[in-house]
Amino acid sequence: MKRKLILDVDTGIDDAIGIILAVKSRQFEILGITTVNGNVSLESATQNTCKVLHLLDEEDIPVIKGANAPLLRNSYFEHAVHGQDGLGGALLDAPIKKQPDEGFAPDFMINSILSFSGEVTLVLTGPLTNLALALKKCPEIVHHVKEVIFMGGVVQGPGNVTPTAEYNVYVDPEAAKLVLDAGFASLTQVGLDVTRKALLTDEHISRIENGELREFVDQSTADYRKRYFERNRVSGCAMHDPLAVAVALNKNLVTTEKYYCDVEMKSELCDGQLVCDIQERLGKRTNLQVCTTVLVEEFFDMFLSIVNS
Ligand code: BDR
Ligand code: CA
Repeated sequence: MKRKLILDVDTGIDDAIGIILAVKSRQFEILGITTVNGNVSLESATQNTCKVLHLLDEEDIPVIKGANAPLLRNSYFEHAVHGQDGLGGALLDAPIKKQPDEGFAPDFMINSILSFSGEVTLVLTGPLTNLALALKKCPEIVHHVKEVIFMGGVVQGPGNVTPTAEYNVYVDPEAAKLVLDAGFASLTQVGLDVTRKALLTDEHISRIENGELREFVDQSTADYRKRYFERNRVSGCAMHDPLAVAVALNKNLVTTEKYYCDVEMKSELCDGQLVCDIQERLGKRTNLQVCTTVLVEEFFDMFLSIVNS
């Protein structure tokens, strides 16, 4: 039996590649893809998600719109990384055949989790606003969800928006805190510590056999790779969100440590930083499974074999 999955995205170049990985893996029954304001507006993230499903010829997968702003803060778009449209211009002229489905993402999450108690895996690759809204409305979902995996934060290393903060946590730190404090039995963070190691290179792209998908990955990541080189002096770009999907597919790709983590929300320099109590100085109960190492070659082997299947 396939595992039931809700994928929450702010599509986004790497979200799009994460969607491709999740859909093409055929390992999940995808109950729905929920969208959130993040890299781009809610409208653009939703439209991009529909375009990616059209590219995959999988337009029957429901797409449900969620929050159009962070819980308390203003939007903070990432056009510099993802382009004006969010997909680096790759599907600009693609026909918009699929429309989003009815409903509101947090309600969709609640209903799905309660209807299939103990069966639903949530993978979140954008700011955590939708899940936070679901938790506010129905806190008991924590006892009914199978597991939650999110891409966000960095534990040991620099941020990618500010010197200390990673984008998804930075955009909606109040939401991230609600998720961390909710009491999930299985909450896994896939942060920059590991995603920065999963660098997609020209060589990986050349190994994608399907012409349309190769062209999409090549075009959508072209500027992203250029920018990554300018900033980091490495050829490639980080597959942040696809790695979160990959962890849902195979936990053995990473090693994890359990820590107590919290989010800084009122600091001039460290706002939106995920703070991890590695040395247990606060004496609090652990709340987060943190990915600490990743098998990069195995990840790309899996990625390419799924995309080429
Ligand atoms: C995260 O931020 C977004 O720009 C990416 O889509 C990814 O989810 C990486 O920090
Ligand atoms: Ca994302």
